[in-house]
Amino acid sequence: MEKSEWEITWSDKFEVGIAELDDEHRQFISRVNQLNKAIIESEDKSAVQRAMNLMLIETGHHFGHEQDLLAQWKYPEAAAHSAKHVELMQRFERVMKEIADSDISFVWAAKGLHLKQLLVEHLLKEDMKYRDFLRAQDRPG
Ligand SMILES: [Fe+2]
Ligand SMILES: [Fe+2]
Repeated sequence: MEKSEWEITWSDKFEVGIAELDDEHRQFISRVNQLNKAIIESEDKSAVQRAMNLMLIETGHHFGHEQDLLAQWKYPEAAAHSAKHVELMQRFERVMKEIADSDISFVWAAKGLHLKQLLVEHLLKEDMKYRDFLRAQDRPG
């Protein structure tokens, strides 16, 4: 099957070098692809809600895990990083509610895609800052 243009392929640009976190991030990217598929192909609101709900649960778990490790590593930006997680989770919950309240497909599709984009950006921008911190410390991955 031909690969869709919106599908994200896992590559080393997503790697933070910590196996358990990379596994969670890999899982997240595959959820992103499932969500994209639900939004773009099926255009079925309940499928989108299911995919987002799963992502919400897993993202919450992952953020907690990441925060525990950042504290353990004495990452200097740990508090700011946690605050970004809190903000994303609040936004996530708000978007879930907005999707539940809207029957206009382009509204929930756009909201779902935007939220997904924010989460991917967090990984590429914020999570890479602790990757760089760990690298600078020459910590064994
Ligand atoms: Fe992360
Ligand atoms: Fe993070």
